[in-house]
Amino acid sequence: MDFGWATTGEEASAALAQHIKGKTILITGVSPGGLGLETARVIALRDPKLVILAARSKDKLKQAEEEVKKVAPQTPVRQLVLDLGDLKKVRSAAEEVNSWEDVPSIDVVVNLSSAGYKAGPVRFDDYNFEGGKQYQKWAAYGQSKSANILYARGLAERYGSKGLRAYGVHPGGIWTNLGHHAKDDLRSFGFMDEEGNTVDSENMKWKTLGQGVSTTIVAAFEPRIADQNGAYLADCQVEDTPEEWMKEPEGPDRLWKLSERLVGEEFPVPT
Ligand SMILES: NC(=O)c1ccc[n+]([C@@H]2O[C@H](COP(=O)([O-])OP(=O)(O)OC[C@H]3O[C@@H](n4cnc5c(N)ncnc54)[C@H](OP(=O)(O)O)[C@@H]3O)[C@@H](O)[C@H]2O)c1
Repeated sequence: MDFGWATTGEEASAALAQHIKGKTILITGVSPGGLGLETARVIALRDPKLVILAARSKDKLKQAEEEVKKVAPQTPVRQLVLDLGDLKKVRSAAEEVNSWEDVPSIDVVVNLSSAGYKAGPVRFDDYNFEGGKQYQKWAAYGQSKSANILYARGLAERYGSKGLRAYGVHPGGIWTNLGHHAKDDLRSFGFMDEEGNTVDSENMKWKTLGQGVSTTIVAAFEPRIADQNGAYLADCQVEDTPEEWMKEPEGPDRLWKLSERLVGEEFPVPT
């Protein structure tokens, strides 16, 4: 199947079903109404060995499992409480996963970025906007989404020879829980009307939730992109990231070292 802008997650997962069957998949941020849960749902349909649902709220995890079980009652599901805002909790969730003997090592990482990466680079010398004093939310979003892409590249560069693949993904513009925090901005960009309805425009055509997860499915399971480790995908295709800061070959390494400093731990390149 040729995948593109309008492909839904269900279509992509059906076309790639043979590559999903028997796999173990961990998905973060599976809140109802968001991309994570829809991703879990369309994967669960294709006979994976295990779907691990990760979220910070036990209540949302319970709802997410119920939604998955509605479409795929036979698929084994496990819940993981993961609060990414607290490093101690991140480490304890990682220990929990590492203690599960039926969970194999990681072979593909998909990092949800955004075309919003174009709003700005990683500000290596001032990533906290002068301690928050000069904070600009869209530059900060651009920074975080540029970092998602560089991190995927960094994983590919460091661990590619060990068999790990990693991709950065732009899912499209989709109405999810995220939009509730940005209604005024969406109106000012012309992406939403005064009544709160989404509006298509020349530079933004909204996708359905289903269409919003197909690029993730392609990144995770499409064997035809295996030789493009570290790539960025949008609309189910590998895309270039032409911005100047994305061309700097040392970008992934700088981000890796900054991340090590911020989390207080080094992750040496395996020999
Ligand atoms: N929707 C779009 O148009 C769009 C476009 C481009 C990129 N993206 C990217 O897609 C990703 C998913 O977004 P979405 O649209 O699905 O929005 P969403 O429904 O708000 O999903 C975000 C998820 O992240 C979780 N989360 C936030 N902070 C967390 C923390 N500290 N620890 C653990 N989980 C945390 C949220 O949990 P809670 O429910 O507990 O807050 C939620 O499950 C984001 O990275 C976003 O930047 C989305």
